[in-house]
Amino acid sequence: MKLKIKANAYLKGLIIVSKPHLWLGWAEKHARFFANTISLSRWVDAQDKAVFNDYYTSKRDNTKREHLYQHIVDSYELNKSPFQYLEFGVSEGHSFRWWLSHIDNKETTFHGFDTFEGLPEDWGFFSKGAMSSSIPQVEDTRATFYKGLFQDTLYPFIKRGDLKTECRKVIHMDADIFSATIFTLTTLAPYINKGDIILFDEFNVPNHEYSAYKIFTESFYVKLRTIGSVNNYYQTAFIVE
Ligand SMILES: C[S@@+](CC[C@H](N)C(=O)[O-])C[C@H]1O[C@@H](n2cnc3c(N)ncnc32)[C@H](O)[C@@H]1O
Repeated sequence: MKLKIKANAYLKGLIIVSKPHLWLGWAEKHARFFANTISLSRWVDAQDKAVFNDYYTSKRDNTKREHLYQHIVDSYELNKSPFQYLEFGVSEGHSFRWWLSHIDNKETTFHGFDTFEGLPEDWGFFSKGAMSSSIPQVEDTRATFYKGLFQDTLYPFIKRGDLKTECRKVIHMDADIFSATIFTLTTLAPYINKGDIILFDEFNVPNHEYSAYKIFTESFYVKLRTIGSVNNYYQTAFIVE
């Protein structure tokens, strides 16, 4: 055992002094992608296919996400009692408006967070600044928007007491990128309760939302049960158990 530990430490030392980042740095992202894809594949394989989903479909159709939203609203009777809807990544407000127009409970409140200056970093084929938009104009007084990085707006939101811990939360993650997703989930972790719903818009992207989901659930021992998905788990919803 001791010998194994020594050999392991020696080998690690050798690898680090040989500066692999200089000759293997190009492989870092690909290796992470490969590992996360294997993990995602295991996750998909373990899913109960009887739960609302369309796996496997050869065509991605973004309008299907609204069927998922409706399924959640109906299954959890979200129109019957008030909840807090928190959307991270609002852009022009397509998904935000859907939720606003399909929930008529007057006490439900809607909170949309975004830089409104686009992505704060590159994401796949999208460059920093992509998806920039102006704050959506909505008449509904139940809606509030918070302009800025989540990293700057979420703590003040919580400190002001605007996050209502006693009522159900629907947390809609649509920021696309890993950093924003992991930041938001870990910041909200102490306030997440049994019965809250967490919805991802790009769940099956291995190095981004999937990776954030994996790290979050494994680090906080949060148990999330899948309640529906569309587009081969691109959009996936969970309930906190
Ligand atoms: C895909 S768009 C949202 C689309 C919208 N939910 C819809 O369905 O119409 C992603 C948004 O996330 C925002 N975003 C990503 N990371 C962010 C961060 N750290 N802070 C604030 N906004 C962020 C970007 O500005 C962008 O508008």
